[in-house]
Amino acid sequence: MEFFVDTANLAQISEAASMGILDGVTTNPSLMAKEGITGVENIKAHYKKICDLVPGGAISAEVLSTEYSAMVEEGKELAALNPQIVVKVPITSDGLRAIKTFTDMGIRTNCTLVFSAAQALLAAKAGATYVSPFLGRLDDIDADGLELISQIRQVYDNYRIETKILGASIRNVKHIMGCAMLGADVVTAPLASIKAMLNHPLTDSGLKKFVEDARKMQ
Ligand code: E4P
Repeated sequence: MEFFVDTANLAQISEAASMGILDGVTTNPSLMAKEGITGVENIKAHYKKICDLVPGGAISAEVLSTEYSAMVEEGKELAALNPQIVVKVPITSDGLRAIKTFTDMGIRTNCTLVFSAAQALLAAKAGATYVSPFLGRLDDIDADGLELISQIRQVYDNYRIETKILGASIRNVKHIMGCAMLGADVVTAPLASIKAMLNHPLTDSGLKKFVEDARKMQ
């Protein structure tokens, strides 16, 4: 399974990259705004910095437009920044059409704001490279985010669809491991959730004892 970090914060991206397990980064307009990134040139410069921090990684950059032609123009500009860029497009009718256009142009896409297997099937049909079901936001409204991963996995396997399932809106380790158990291809998670995967009280107590005993050996 691939690991992406879900942030536009350069320090967090750098820390995630230094863990040695990072395959990419996802951003969205909310995450970019949180970092105070405004204006086309600053946005582009920020994406370039992210690409440099994760050499060879897949870096999702979301279009800000919602109309087809504008999405396509924006996506082409984003893709031209660096071959690592994956153009992130919402699952609307304009977005679906834009994904198909990007597919025909050889530009990789991440279809975002996916909340149903039906949306995921359409995204795949248009040739999306990644589809991003939002687990946490489904759980927030008392639906079952992981059940959606399972449904999409089944539909994609039925037709040998190659679109990668990218579990998004991750809130905790349970979400990450649920994605892993259900066969998601990728998860994008906040750095804190990725780091929390390391935690186990028996590791802590076991290491404490080993360190104490190691002192006796010196
Ligand atoms: C996906 O790519 C989005 O950036 C993200 O996972 C959304 O998560 P949120 O529900 O925590 O905002």
